[in-house]
Amino acid sequence: MTVSAVVHDAREVVTVEPDGSLGVYEEAAIAIEDGAVARVGPTGPVTREFPPENATHAVDASGKAVIPGFVDPHTHAVFAGDRSDEFEAKLRGKTYQEILEDGGGILRTVRATREASDDELLSNLLDHLDTMLAHGTTTVEVKSGYGLDTETELRMLEVLDRADDRHPVDVVATFMGAHAVPADRDADEYVDDVVDDQLPAVASQGIAEFCDVFCEEGVFDVEQSRRVLEAGAEAGLTPKVHAEELAHIGGTRLAAEVGAASADHLLHSTADDVDALVEADVVPVLLPGTAFGLGAEYADARAFVEAGADVAIATDFNPNCYSQSMGFAASLACVEMGLTPAEALVASTANAASALDLDDGVGTLREGSPGDLAVLDAPTYVHVPYNFGVNAVGTVLKDGEVVHRA
Ligand code: NIG
Ligand code: FE
Repeated sequence: MTVSAVVHDAREVVTVEPDGSLGVYEEAAIAIEDGAVARVGPTGPVTREFPPENATHAVDASGKAVIPGFVDPHTHAVFAGDRSDEFEAKLRGKTYQEILEDGGGILRTVRATREASDDELLSNLLDHLDTMLAHGTTTVEVKSGYGLDTETELRMLEVLDRADDRHPVDVVATFMGAHAVPADRDADEYVDDVVDDQLPAVASQGIAEFCDVFCEEGVFDVEQSRRVLEAGAEAGLTPKVHAEELAHIGGTRLAAEVGAASADHLLHSTADDVDALVEADVVPVLLPGTAFGLGAEYADARAFVEAGADVAIATDFNPNCYSQSMGFAASLACVEMGLTPAEALVASTANAASALDLDDGVGTLREGSPGDLAVLDAPTYVHVPYNFGVNAVGTVLKDGEVVHRA
């Protein structure tokens, strides 16, 4: 029998079970055939059935933990330019909104992205995907939204498609033409452009799976956001919402009303909002790195868990939140948001896959699911959040192929 990979003698192999709890197999192995997990269990029986010497890839994981590859369900990883100077301005007390009002922030990245060639955008993105992969991410969602015109938005999505073909990390594309109001337009007029011009072109291009909107005070209000999401849904794109990041204006409710796959940020969501999300089966995606980078308060992840939500976490990697590391997001989620290490692991794997409507077992490592995993240079999964600021990931497999070695 041809086996593409056997990872054996691990101190523990961690799966996510159908009820959302962690399965921790001690002194275990995992066999992957044709890209999918064929067996997880004690090393002896697994390696007798799937001998490592017959495998294309045999990985000795003695003393190490094996976890599902991370799914990062919210990034803005395709862009040009650098905003490290804004980091310094923020440290001196300038707010995100003040930076935006002065023509910085998103609008500055829009100028740099419009001027960049496709190849430059692709090369930047591939570098970021390399960093993500080295930190254990095997699936990532990336949003457009630094074009704010039809031509550049299409170019960004095309670059995502090329990166997906070329790079081991799976890239899920989201159209986010409604990411900011361009400097020379008003919001209503710009929403017309998104709905009447950008969305039909994006739909016929056929790359984007989701449509997202920055529903925020001073950006797009609830009714403008609803127009974008409803037009997106009509064009076949599943809604997602940036909701209550800087202020509470009703984006969480909107996400529940339009049946979004996820509502993201949620720093200012109320208890009623949380109940509405749970009721509508919308995945809350919390972004601890954003709060860290802005020096802002963190969303209360415990309140979401206690309300029965399947919380996901993401990096929100973008020029304002410059971290590609899901491990760092997990550390913050534990220390600042109240998740346990086990909850943080589920939030960054299986629940993150749910936020992307991936229902084929991505992020679980259960038998039959994709063979996407990270072998840690550490004895337990707890080291992911515990060893903060340090990458715990050693070897990474995608669909049973070794795609990264530390
Ligand atoms: O999720 N909030 C809007 N979008 C990003 C920030 C993008 C940027 O500042 O370039 C976010 O935080
Ligand atoms: Fe975002």
